[in-house]
Amino acid sequence: MQPPRFIDKGKNMIPSKPDCISIKVRKVDFGFSTELPYRWYSGNPAIFNFCNAISIMFPIGEQFFIDSVRHYKDQITDPVLREEVAGFIAQEAMHSKQHDLCNQVLKVQNKQMFVIEKVAKLFLDTSRHIYPARTLLAISCALEHFTALFADQLLNSQAFRKLAHPVYAELWLWHAVEETEHKAVCFDVYQQVAGGVFGYIERCLVMLLVSICMLVAIILSVLLMLVVQPKKSAPKPPKQHSANKKPFATGWFRYLFIKPGIIPYIMVPYCKYYSPSFHPWQHDNSALVQRWKAHYENLRATGVQPVFPLASATTAAGD
Ligand SMILES: [Fe+2]
Ligand SMILES: [Fe+2]
Repeated sequence: MQPPRFIDKGKNMIPSKPDCISIKVRKVDFGFSTELPYRWYSGNPAIFNFCNAISIMFPIGEQFFIDSVRHYKDQITDPVLREEVAGFIAQEAMHSKQHDLCNQVLKVQNKQMFVIEKVAKLFLDTSRHIYPARTLLAISCALEHFTALFADQLLNSQAFRKLAHPVYAELWLWHAVEETEHKAVCFDVYQQVAGGVFGYIERCLVMLLVSICMLVAIILSVLLMLVVQPKKSAPKPPKQHSANKKPFATGWFRYLFIKPGIIPYIMVPYCKYYSPSFHPWQHDNSALVQRWKAHYENLRATGVQPVFPLASATTAAGD
C-alpha cells in the first residue's frame, strides 16, 4: 500500500486521495431482467433484503447528492477538486441509472418496494424545502460517509462474491468500489465552501440528525421486510442462490450485530467523523479498489468474461 499523501493547509496536514485512485465513470450494463432471483444471496437473507431496500433508495439519494454538490460547482476554485466533482457527478449518475434498472425488476418482484421509495423521497424532498444549500451539502457528506463505510465492509467481505448471484455481486462490488473512489468529494467541497468552526458544528449536528433518521429508516425497512415478502409468482431463485431458511428476525440480528456485524464494524470509523480533523482518506482503503481491479485483470488474462463488459467500459472511461 502506498503511504498516504498530505496536503499542507497551513497548520493542518490534510490527507489527500491516494495517487492510485481516479474518479472516472465506468459505462456498465448488467442486463437486469425479471429472470433474476429476488432472493439473490444464498447466505443470511437479511443481506439481500437490506441491499434491495437501499437499492430502491439510491436513485433518489444519488440525485440529491449530485444536486447538492452541483449547486457549488462554480464556487470551486481548486482545479483538481473541480475535476473530481465532475467525476463524482458522472459516477453517481451511472449508479442511479443502473439501480433504477435493477429497481424496475425488484418492484415487479415485490410491490411493497414502492413504500420504501416513497418514504425516502418524502424525507429528501422535505429536506430540500426546509434547509439551505450548505446544510443539504452537509446531509450529503453524512450520507456519503455511511455509504463509504458500507462499501468498505462489502469490499472486505470474503463471502459476498461467493454467495451472491453473479449479476448482483458485480453490481454491488462495482458500486462499492466507486463509492470508495469518490468518498471524499462531497466532504472536500463542503470544507471549501463551509469550512471553519461553524461548518464543523453544522456537519456534526447534521450527522447526528442523519444518523437518527438512518436508524429509523433501517428499523422501518426491517419491519417491512419481516412483514411483507414477495408473492409466490415471483421467479424462483436457482438452487445455488436460494436463501437459506434462517428466521428473518435472527438473520437481521446476526447481520447487524454478529456476522458481519455492520453496527460494530462501522462504529469506530463513524465516530471519527465527529473529530474536527476528520477526513475520509484518513482511512486509506485504496488497496480494496486495487484488489477489485486486479480481479478483473486476472479474469481477462485467463479469457473469462465478467458479467458486465468492464474491459471496454474501462477503456472508454480512460481509467
Ligand atoms: Fe453511488
Ligand atoms: Fe457516492
